[in-house]
Amino acid sequence: MNQPVKQHLIDPEICIRCYTCEMTCPVGAIEHDDNNVVVNFDTCNFCMDCIPVCPTGSIDEWRVVDTPYTLEQQFEMDELPDQEDIAAPAPSSDEGAVDPIAALLAEAHKGAGGKAKAPLTASKPAVNMYNLGKPAKMKVQGNYRLTDDPDHDLRHIILDPGALPFPVLEGQSVGILPPGTDADGNAHLPRLYSISSPRDGERPGYHNISLTVKREEGGLASNFLCDLETGTEVEVTGPFGATFLMPSDPKAHLLLICTGTGSAPMRAFTMQRQRSGATGGMTMFFGARTPQSLPYFGPLKKIPESLMKQHLVFSREAGTDKEYVQDRIIAEQEAIAELLVDEHTYIYICGLRGMEEGVERAMTSIAESMGQQWEALRDTMREDGRYHVETY
Ligand code: A2P
Repeated sequence: MNQPVKQHLIDPEICIRCYTCEMTCPVGAIEHDDNNVVVNFDTCNFCMDCIPVCPTGSIDEWRVVDTPYTLEQQFEMDELPDQEDIAAPAPSSDEGAVDPIAALLAEAHKGAGGKAKAPLTASKPAVNMYNLGKPAKMKVQGNYRLTDDPDHDLRHIILDPGALPFPVLEGQSVGILPPGTDADGNAHLPRLYSISSPRDGERPGYHNISLTVKREEGGLASNFLCDLETGTEVEVTGPFGATFLMPSDPKAHLLLICTGTGSAPMRAFTMQRQRSGATGGMTMFFGARTPQSLPYFGPLKKIPESLMKQHLVFSREAGTDKEYVQDRIIAEQEAIAELLVDEHTYIYICGLRGMEEGVERAMTSIAESMGQQWEALRDTMREDGRYHVETY
């Protein structure tokens, strides 16, 4: 019989197919087909370089197996297999010896970081309905500039799947396939964008979706998207993502923390809460350079405080001190402390990776002032599906 081994796998339900892990892996152990991203058992050396770069945590999956899952088996998976029962070895007469399989199993289930979970009351998302081999074709219904800052071109792009079923939930993402091929003649990989519209559509009942796109200098997909004209057809994969979702509980309070285009899912959440008449309220910390470069500034200003308390903070506004979201969180620490101990609070962080560290520091200091440990609070919230991070 084979000796049980630890195998690294990727959760196909949670993976958003951004391929960052594949691009990061130093030994080429990660690959994809039209359907899934998978890890080659024979090549993976458990270096863990792929773990922190994954925006969803879908990469942090481990099983102890008698026979490793082949690439072909992994390409076919719609969901991860459960941990199989591994036969325990005969008891050792050597007292105190560590059971190697028990040790492997314990290690396999620990993972490298906390695993995100969907809120208990979240609706069940559809994932990976359209893949590289069978993308959905959507028509551009609109492409609007969101920012007045001439050096900061952010766009609101509306895509219409027409008669194709494309069910989405707020917080999910889609892949956009840029046309053409790379220098080696291969089709470009899709680029991931968060959906910024709610589940029943940018326009209620129309089931169209919107994206928030920042034009990046030299960026292939962002320039393609920002230059799209109405009526053009775009190839779309997805939808992806099964944890960064909102609770259906109307009494839930959402604490939304974002920078720049990280506001996309927050816009979707906010619109869905408005449409559904939820009463639990929201608190938003939104960081941008200036009011002129903050997307959705006008519409945000119209949202009443009873629905959402807003902290719009600016890092480069003339005449005022540079401020980041984490600075304002500290300034508001009493209100945050109250939210942290309320089991109706759901935290969502989306935007620059650097912000995540800043927010962690701010939360650590607030928790300490309450005589609590942030890591313990955060892990409990994450376990309850109440703590969500998507940074890039
Ligand atoms: P700055 O670039 O002035 O340092 P955008 O993507 O639209 O530029 O917005 C990102 C916002 O996030 C900017 O205000 C940017 O400030 C700010 N930012 C940059 N780094 C961090 C960080 N480590 N933590 C929080 N906010 C940050």
